[in-house]
Amino acid sequence: MLPGDVSGMNTIELGCGTAYVSAWLARAGARPVGIDVSEKQLATARAMQGEFGIDFPLVLGNAEKVPYEDNTFGLAISEYGASLWCDPYRWIPEAARLLVPGGRLVFMRYSPLFAMCVPSEGPASTNLSRGQFGLTRLDQGNHVQFILPHGEMLRLLRSCGFVVEDLIEIQAPQTAHEGYAEVSAGWARQWPSEEIWKARLAG
Ligand SMILES: C[S@@+](CC[C@H](N)C(=O)[O-])C[C@H]1O[C@@H](n2cnc3c(N)ncnc32)[C@H](O)[C@@H]1O
Repeated sequence: MLPGDVSGMNTIELGCGTAYVSAWLARAGARPVGIDVSEKQLATARAMQGEFGIDFPLVLGNAEKVPYEDNTFGLAISEYGASLWCDPYRWIPEAARLLVPGGRLVFMRYSPLFAMCVPSEGPASTNLSRGQFGLTRLDQGNHVQFILPHGEMLRLLRSCGFVVEDLIEIQAPQTAHEGYAEVSAGWARQWPSEEIWKARLAG
């Protein structure tokens, strides 16, 4: 998920939660910042920093409107943070604003195929439970998730000045256990339930 050399790079994790991705970045020599809208998640992140002897700023705030200047970071990253919970038409332009020219955007999220195959209850099946058109915003009653289909995501990234460098569709390994409520290992060995996008800001 991480770019090769992040040493000395300013990075921001959008919707950092426990901020373990930023902890990896800190260990790799980056200067991370994590932002999350949940004080409780940040309290856990702080506790983890204490336990593992890693220290970087944790900011309470919305990843759709980040309190940092333009052109501040070399990498913006999200693992099921902004990439799932924020409106892509807000957080992706915001990531572009925060990045220096040539800066990287990396995010991991559910695949659109998974979102189409997962029923309202139970794990992903081999039936299509919902259409692709209108998938962008999934209103689940007490929460909303955003899963932009591939074409729309590509056009959005390009319109924000990004060049897409990779789209990694993740396959569960043979050794994967069967323990996830939303997808079985057997399903995820045949189809990608999650994916990683890698893009670079032109310039
Ligand atoms: C499933 S967690 C994943 C985060 C991290 N990778 C982890 O494993 O802890 C999703 C996080 O996104 C945060 N989040 C949701 N909406 C957000 C927003 N608008 N701005 C910032 N963070 C947000 C939640 O508070 C939560 O901590």
